[in-house]
Amino acid sequence: MKIGELVRTEDFKSEKHVPFIGAPSTVKKGEKFEVEVTVGKEIPHPNTVEHHIKWMDLYAKFEGKPVVQVGHFDLGPTFGEPSVKVVVSLPESATLIAVIYCNIHGLWENSVEVKVE
Ligand SMILES: [Fe+2]
Repeated sequence: MKIGELVRTEDFKSEKHVPFIGAPSTVKKGEKFEVEVTVGKEIPHPNTVEHHIKWMDLYAKFEGKPVVQVGHFDLGPTFGEPSVKVVVSLPESATLIAVIYCNIHGLWENSVEVKVE
């Protein structure tokens, strides 16, 4: 078995795990921009000791190169909601990939393309 087989992308109807990634679709080379990673943007995910988003990772994948970890955000359980913002600059176009872990429902992912002009 491979870990990728365990990462889910199809969400439940009543509870959302697939992370929202807010990022511009186009940026300038080296320009700083903000990336938001949020779980439960439309339907909030529980944030209790019993059921919470434990961590969120953000990666950048450049064509032909290994994946790069942009950030790891360890969350809880705390009073912090599963939503983070990080300032990023990219040397070239990339796919941003967010992976999150719910202590009950496991691993979930999403990705967006960011084109560098
Ligand atoms: Fe969950």
